[in-house]
Amino acid sequence: MWKVVAVSDFFENLFNHIHGAVTHFPIALPFVSVGVDYFAAKRPGLQGGAWLLLVLGSLGTVAATITGLVAHLAYEDDSVLLSAIDRHQYLGFATTALFVGLTAWSSMRRGDVGGSRAYLVVALVGLAVLALTGFLGGNLLTEWGIGVKGITR
Ligand code: HEM
Repeated sequence: MWKVVAVSDFFENLFNHIHGAVTHFPIALPFVSVGVDYFAAKRPGLQGGAWLLLVLGSLGTVAATITGLVAHLAYEDDSVLLSAIDRHQYLGFATTALFVGLTAWSSMRRGDVGGSRAYLVVALVGLAVLALTGFLGGNLLTEWGIGVKGITR
């Protein structure tokens, strides 16, 4: 019997924290992709790796958006918490649109767009918006206590 409870606890825990787990990928991969792309100007062999990291990072932003939308449903009836979540949510949408757009652009040019100045400018804007999204996401937990089990002493 205790095994059934442990398994259901595990899935409840996983479901409640899946957004926080998924977000590591879209935060890390685009940063590494843009960094590798920068060096690919001197070492063209790196271009393919940068493109793959971009694709995986963009898939991660889509996964983060879906899991984030699911995570926020529990707070729909609280207008104060919802307004804090909204700022994070809209930046998350912008991050996703920017990186999916960059992936489409790069893929249409067979991954050779990376080194161009135009690409770098859009990518740096994307990284700034991504960083702000992640920062405000963390704030939802540390400043607002969303998704955090209280500690009693
Ligand atoms: C690229 C898109 C996104 C990124 C990178 C991102 C990132 C983050 C991060 C880093 C956290 C803190 C998690 C932790 O420390 O455990 C967080 C929390 C949160 N995010 Fe997002 N987020 C994204 C999109 C969204 C969207 C679209 C929503 C929709 C409302 C959303 C809703 C939430 C909520 C409710 C929390 C607090 C509860 C929880 O962590 O499950 N996020 N997000």
